[in-house]
Amino acid sequence: MKFFIDTANLDHIREAHALGILDGVTTNPSLMAKEGIKGTEAINNHYKTICEIVDGDISAEVLGTDFNTIVEEGKVLAALHPNIVVKVPMIKDGVKAIKWFTDNGIKTNCTLVFSAGQAILAAKAGATYVSPFIGRIDDSGWDGMQLISQIANIYTLQGFETQILAASIRNANHIIQCAEAGADVITSPLEPILGLLKHPLTDLGLEKFLEDAKKMG
Ligand code: E4P
Repeated sequence: MKFFIDTANLDHIREAHALGILDGVTTNPSLMAKEGIKGTEAINNHYKTICEIVDGDISAEVLGTDFNTIVEEGKVLAALHPNIVVKVPMIKDGVKAIKWFTDNGIKTNCTLVFSAGQAILAAKAGATYVSPFIGRIDDSGWDGMQLISQIANIYTLQGFETQILAASIRNANHIIQCAEAGADVITSPLEPILGLLKHPLTDLGLEKFLEDAKKMG
């Protein structure tokens, strides 16, 4: 399973990258705005900086919602760096644009996916990644992990090559459950990734080992 970090914060990206386990980065307009990045030039430069830090797939989201605008924006984003993946919303024109990008050799991440039907459409259009938002589904009282399992079953049964990129991760347990449910990739903020490290018995055990090591002189 690949690990992406879901942020536009360069310090968090560098910290996750330094762990040596990072395979890529996803961003979205909210995450870019949170970092105070404004204007096309600044946005594009930020994507380029991320690409210089991490050698892996970097999702950059289009802002247009009609076919022509999505395609034009996506072409500009894809030209920024060979590792850019154009992130396209799961809407009718988005599906059409994903098919266009697929036919033209541009990688895509179909975002804002909340149902198996949407995941089937994304795969039919040839999306490189499909992003089910498990945290937002859980927040609304449904079961995000059940959707990951359902999509994984369908993709295996039908031989779809689109990779399941589990998004909207809220905690370390989500990452573990995604691994069990058959996600190909998780994209998570830094905290849940670091949460995987934590266990009180590890801390207690290390404390004791270090204490006993002192006796060894
Ligand atoms: C996916 O690529 C999105 O950037 C992200 O995972 C959304 O997460 P949120 O529900 O925490 O905003």
